Amino acid sequence: MDKIIVNGGNPLYGEVEIGGAKNAVLPIMTASILTPGIYTLNRVPNLRDTRTMANLLEIIGAKVTYEKGTMVIDSNSCNNPTAPYDLVKTMRASFYVLGPFMGRFQHAEVSLPGGCAWGPRPVDLHLKAIEALGGTVSLESGNIVADGQLKGADISFDISSVGATGNALMASAKADGISTISIASKEPEITSLAEFLIKMGADITGLDSDKLTVVGNPNLKGDFEFDIIPDRIEAGTFLIAVALCGGEVTLTNVNPNHLNIVLSKLSEVGVKLDIGEDTITVKAPKKINSVNITTAPYPGFPTDLQAQWMAMMSKCDGSAVIIDEIYRDRFTHIAELSRLGANITLEDNVAVVTGVNKLKGAPVMSTDIRASASLILSSLAAEEKSEISRVYHIDRGYENIEEKFRNLGADMYRISK
Ligand code: UD1
Repeated sequence: MDKIIVNGGNPLYGEVEIGGAKNAVLPIMTASILTPGIYTLNRVPNLRDTRTMANLLEIIGAKVTYEKGTMVIDSNSCNNPTAPYDLVKTMRASFYVLGPFMGRFQHAEVSLPGGCAWGPRPVDLHLKAIEALGGTVSLESGNIVADGQLKGADISFDISSVGATGNALMASAKADGISTISIASKEPEITSLAEFLIKMGADITGLDSDKLTVVGNPNLKGDFEFDIIPDRIEAGTFLIAVALCGGEVTLTNVNPNHLNIVLSKLSEVGVKLDIGEDTITVKAPKKINSVNITTAPYPGFPTDLQAQWMAMMSKCDGSAVIIDEIYRDRFTHIAELSRLGANITLEDNVAVVTGVNKLKGAPVMSTDIRASASLILSSLAAEEKSEISRVYHIDRGYENIEEKFRNLGADMYRISK
């Protein structure tokens, strides 16, 4: 297994280009199953998760090619609406095939994902949406089996779920009649998925709000090109890295509007920001002010940046409170950040980080995508050498991360075993 070695202590200077959003491209890839066609997706990041999704599409019967950020999906010969356990267990986003399977085949067999490092992570809301649209759902040998010709209906979630909103949108886009989705997720990745479905011929209104109305179209059309939005979580990771390590960096291919809360919290930290149309220049503060965060659905502070924020606060002036309200168990990084010298206590879903003057390199282990990012950030800010193992987690969500940091002056490399 690969390891990343970091000799910390260097400030970061230069320019970094942000890639296409992982959490936008994954549902869009599955949406290509909804109706036969050839889809060209631009700015697709080369990630372990996009490769896993491409494998899944091939099992379903699609042809997928990828070159220099352009992915072409030919979904004309899709004929196998199944998502096997082997793939779903490595990537929960595989569950996004449920809505498209029902729309195209009126049948779906999708392995139940099970738990993960962040706790139980149920899929009840996804199933509720399919049932509301008239599908039948059962559990057979660990697989969700769904059947039925879906019809427009009112779907009301109890809480905002990105994945369930995505599945509900895709299923209702092809269902005859009008659907409404209440307490819908407002994440930019959901708006982007809706825009992809609109290009297919669906009529969707209420974009960026928590109530979406979908006039389904059983005759959706494929064969078009679509640009993937910039990854706001990768962007946030680099912004926080500069604040923590020192220096001045310009991010390109970024949508600052998707980062409002993160940018306003970074200003409180003392970071200087120069915001352009699709660029952000970040200049590190002399000292890191302590700033509390509580994660919440968009436009709130993203849970996917909670671990990185904690890494930054471990060198703050004072103490900061970090609460995760979305994934109450998403704190496996605390034990590893502590190995680097961070002072963090945890009670339920509330972490208190007391800033230390210096962090010191150590061997640490990645436990999930964003936890790995927090370890890289802390190692970059720590004195001496760190060795990060299980980096396959980081490869799920960050393209060329060591090269991008090296270009900014970091001393960081990978050992492949
Ligand atoms: C997506 C993102 C993930 C991010 C998360 C929250 C992708 C591929 N992944 O995950 O990176 O951390 O949003 O922003 O886009 N819930 C239920 N029942 C359900 C579904 C969800 O109770 O059927 C709960 C979850 O346990 C969680 C909350 O709803 O507490 C939000 O989860 P959700 O928005 O569904 O996350 P994902 O779509 O899985």
